[in-house]
Amino acid sequence: MRSKIVAGNWKMNKNLTETEALLTELAAKLPDTQAEVMVAPTYVNLASAVRTLESSVIEVIAQNMHFAESGAYTGEISADMLLSIGVDTAIIGHSERRAYFGETDEILAKKVVTALDKNIRVMFCFGEELEDRKSDNHFNVVESQLKNALFSLEASAWSKIVLAYEPVWAIGTGETASADQAQEMHAFIRKTITEAYDATIANNVSILYGGSVKPGNAGEIFGKPDVDGGLIGGAALVADDFVAIIKAI
Ligand code: PGA
Repeated sequence: MRSKIVAGNWKMNKNLTETEALLTELAAKLPDTQAEVMVAPTYVNLASAVRTLESSVIEVIAQNMHFAESGAYTGEISADMLLSIGVDTAIIGHSERRAYFGETDEILAKKVVTALDKNIRVMFCFGEELEDRKSDNHFNVVESQLKNALFSLEASAWSKIVLAYEPVWAIGTGETASADQAQEMHAFIRKTITEAYDATIANNVSILYGGSVKPGNAGEIFGKPDVDGGLIGGAALVADDFVAIIKAI
């Protein structure tokens, strides 16, 4: 059985004081839920976030990590550093990392391997750009992103992977994929994994949708059979909105 997950990607928002305040509010308002709830504050506040959420079920995850074990990589963060502060899940491949920081499929494949070697759970993000969808190339793009970064992994690695399909044109734009578009792509992703591996792996992997999920549209999107939750950006920065989205699952 795959898990339901609602994760908040805070991106480059919230200083230390604001982070503690939002986490405290979230922990207090967290509704009863079967879903796993995760938040990804900025790196400098991860350790403090772990402490703030010590007695909460909300999990603190990282927005990124480097593929090298250690060494001369100024400004980067290693898997061991995350583990040492109690963070054992990392977002890898977010479209903003791909677009603004030159992260290619090849780099992401290395990051995934390192994370899994270290027993870090990977939330792998991917999705097509607007031109891809307009030219009806979105299925090909998604398939090649998955293939290039993930399909060389052993079957056993998939128990540590969560997928987040995030069409780039829907991220931070206010434009959401319709629930039917999300379902269509998620079903395609499961079919692609079935072909590359098998139906058990495809049915056990959680596939989240991301891109302008809000309290008003979360219920319809999460209601689709192949959508197992969401990766939430803007709406995760407001406790009441994030809580409403968690309730929608
Ligand atoms: P958004 O961001 O909800 O603000 O569109 C989603 C994401 O980038 O993960």
